[in-house]
Amino acid sequence: MKVPFLDLKRWDEELKDALKTKFNLILENGVFSGGEEVKNLEAKVSTYLNSPFAVSCANGTDALELALRALGIGPGDEVIVPAMTWVSTAEAVLIVGAVPVFWDTDENGLLASDWECAVTPGTKAVIPVHLYGKMLGMDDMIAKAKAHKLYIIEDAAQSFGAFQNGKAAGTFGDVGCLSFYPTKNLGALGEAGMCLTSSPRLAERIKMLINHGQLMRDEHQLIGRNSRIDTLQAGFLNVFLERFENHQMIRKKFAKYYLSNLSLIEQIQLPQGILEPDHNSHLFVIQIDKRDELKDFLFRQCVGTAIHYPSTLPDMSPYREAGSFMKARRLSKQGLSLPLNPWMNESEIAYVIEAIQKFFL
Ligand SMILES: Cc1ncc(COP(=O)(O)O)c(C=O)c1O
Repeated sequence: MKVPFLDLKRWDEELKDALKTKFNLILENGVFSGGEEVKNLEAKVSTYLNSPFAVSCANGTDALELALRALGIGPGDEVIVPAMTWVSTAEAVLIVGAVPVFWDTDENGLLASDWECAVTPGTKAVIPVHLYGKMLGMDDMIAKAKAHKLYIIEDAAQSFGAFQNGKAAGTFGDVGCLSFYPTKNLGALGEAGMCLTSSPRLAERIKMLINHGQLMRDEHQLIGRNSRIDTLQAGFLNVFLERFENHQMIRKKFAKYYLSNLSLIEQIQLPQGILEPDHNSHLFVIQIDKRDELKDFLFRQCVGTAIHYPSTLPDMSPYREAGSFMKARRLSKQGLSLPLNPWMNESEIAYVIEAIQKFFL
């Protein structure tokens, strides 16, 4: 058996037909930027996540940059960022001319709760990242940010559809940023992203920023850019959104299967809270001392795995920062993502489990 980490060619015929029908519809309509598909997507996400405003954009990295710009963060400002995340989180901060200040994570890769120690008079915002789909404790985050008068930009790129006490990832902060990169739980057939906010002022600013500073054609009020979503991607996302909860159920079922079978192997640290509603089961990341050996072994058994991520940000040259970042570094050396997606079947999950068990024999 061959188990790829993720194979997006495996979509079932029903889904492929729905996507083709959507493509044909858009082709016939002749609207390829903006239009009904974009309006529908924003309205549906706004309702599903209970976010008063949902402004689509070109990708998740732009969503972070737009959030920072809309909040007026720029040169001279500091933004607290976890040491373990996808580069976009810090990249966006640098793109707007501010400085990312890294802080260690807890053992699950979420910004450690003592992040307040990084606050200086120059700190303007903190970016909690709901890494692997697991949400940070947002009550504590909000209380601390309030005490220091900081903005919260939630990087919810990996956590679409996770809810903490009934409230969606991305709706706790001043702005929440989503990515619809194809490998995400809600993924497009290309690039797309979104900003969530409950502030009409911020929503309006972000709408202007994605469209050359204009709300009305030819009325340019500020310097923006083009970060509009493609109509095609919005249309495809509308198709996926209808199937989202079903796909989530499959993820949860497979995650449960992994958990119950791998919990007997004491050398493996399993992902915490992956079956809870505040985890969308985006990635199933185990931690193990012999990570690289296990990865190689699984590769030889034809099981694809991935590492999210092999280096912390302060250890990369563009983001270099001195510090211990012990837990984030440990995760970069010990974390291994097992295949988990709705396009797999149960016998493949069983095969991955058996292969891991064999490694420990
Ligand atoms: C944590 C995190 N932040 C930001 C992004 C950026 O999203 P995008 O790839 O859509 O630009 C991603 C996705 O790749 C991500 O995983």
